[in-house]
Amino acid sequence: MKKVLFVASEAVPFIKTGGLADVVGSLPKCFPKEYFDVRVVIPKYRVIKDEFKNQMRYITNFYMDLNWRQQYVGIFEMEYEGIKFYFIDNEEHFSGDKPYAGMPWDLEKFAFFSKAALSILPVIDFRPDIIHCHDWQTGLIPVYLKERFQGSDFYRGIKSIMTIHNLKFQGVWDIKTIKNISGLPDYYFTPDKLEFKKDANYLKGGLVYADAITTVSKTYAEEIKMPFYGEGLDGLMSARANDLRGIVNGIDYDEYNPETDSFITKNYNAKNFRKEKVKNKIALQQELGLEQDPKAMMIGVVSRLTDQKGFDLIAYVMDELCQDNIQLVVLGTGEERYENMFRHFAWKYDKKVAACIYYSEPMSHKIYASADAFLMPSLFEPCGLSQLMSLRYGTVPIVRETGGLKDTVQPYNEYEGSGTGFSFTNYNAHEMLGTIRYAERIYYDRKRDWNKIIDRGMAQDYSWNNSARQYEELYNWL
Ligand code: ADP
Ligand code: GLC
Repeated sequence: MKKVLFVASEAVPFIKTGGLADVVGSLPKCFPKEYFDVRVVIPKYRVIKDEFKNQMRYITNFYMDLNWRQQYVGIFEMEYEGIKFYFIDNEEHFSGDKPYAGMPWDLEKFAFFSKAALSILPVIDFRPDIIHCHDWQTGLIPVYLKERFQGSDFYRGIKSIMTIHNLKFQGVWDIKTIKNISGLPDYYFTPDKLEFKKDANYLKGGLVYADAITTVSKTYAEEIKMPFYGEGLDGLMSARANDLRGIVNGIDYDEYNPETDSFITKNYNAKNFRKEKVKNKIALQQELGLEQDPKAMMIGVVSRLTDQKGFDLIAYVMDELCQDNIQLVVLGTGEERYENMFRHFAWKYDKKVAACIYYSEPMSHKIYASADAFLMPSLFEPCGLSQLMSLRYGTVPIVRETGGLKDTVQPYNEYEGSGTGFSFTNYNAHEMLGTIRYAERIYYDRKRDWNKIIDRGMAQDYSWNNSARQYEELYNWL
């Protein structure tokens, strides 16, 4: 029996700000129970819903020193869909109204969390063979593991994996502060370890000290060895190329299933979508005050509103796009300029554009089910889950060919009759607009071909089936 501990800053259904939570919440369920005991540790944020907090069982508490301070570590536990979750409790660190407070506040929070995740192991009597760390928030775990924990018998031989979900976020601050917060000695703050352009970098620590590194698509694993995508760590990624693999994400096929989804107006499947799917669109047009026209091509966007996702391309051609016979439904929160841009266009073209500037799980499902196409013109995209959800719901992705978008959406080829979506290469607004307009032409003029694109998209398997096997292989190899 292999024992694996996932450590991350978010996991569905407890807390989610993006795709990381989907992955950490759904992947652990996909390993065969006879061979793998996979458990998960996340912070016990105050903002986790009471519905869950009430089900957590208090285990114990102790005090842990983090540099010069003794800090309280409470441990709670809960089983969810067959997986054991542990929650680290500390009022000072986790009582904010959001999981992240930004820099520098998150630095101490996640140094504490990382050290606590290691410290609780003897207490909960779980000695993992592998600690699987996710993103910069857990970057110090491989470092602490090597630095102090492996001196004791309990921890000796535990391996660590660092998975990069987004290289953009690294946890960087000046060396003096991080030395003080982490309690790590001078030895670790050199350019071959945590030092990064004269500062200190949590994620870099993880990438240097982890036994293996993964990221969430094959293409992104290649891209991050190059300066454009490497965020200053391309040299390190190249140096560790032999220990770096790209394993594409999956999604939870039970959670995202148009046949059983209780958030959507009309359930449908790969056989009857031609007749049934449109009923969702009509209902959403009504709900959002758009023109009620079953034929109008609806384009959906569900996203964090940040630069990463290519919103400056959309901003650039938004007026032009709105001259077309399309509807645009946006669900997202994030940078104010993008929130306001969509609010503005929803006001200007009120029958064509709907701006839902909030976070809502049910609304996201409605959009995946209702839209005809899904737009994701990302500047970079480690994997992307929204396009996978779209494929699952028979909604045709229009994407830029980067990272996981390139690996999961095959461009439509009208001559061969192949492909599951539409894509463009360069980060250029008119290239995007040209691709959207090409999709419009197929949608309006060649509906049978359009429906065949949907057939092929819905036939893809982006459940965790394949990718979980690749993680198993990695665990076994380690
Ligand atoms: P990222 O992790 O970079 O944000 P992904 O495509 O991997 O991008 O995952 C985004 C996840 O967050 C998807 O599950 C998507 O449906 C969800 N999501 C993003 N914004 C919202 C929102 N405003 N309301 C509901 N779900 C959202
Ligand atoms: C990150 C990436 C996204 C990926 C997700 C889950 O948030 O931005 O592309 O799908 O992590 O791995």
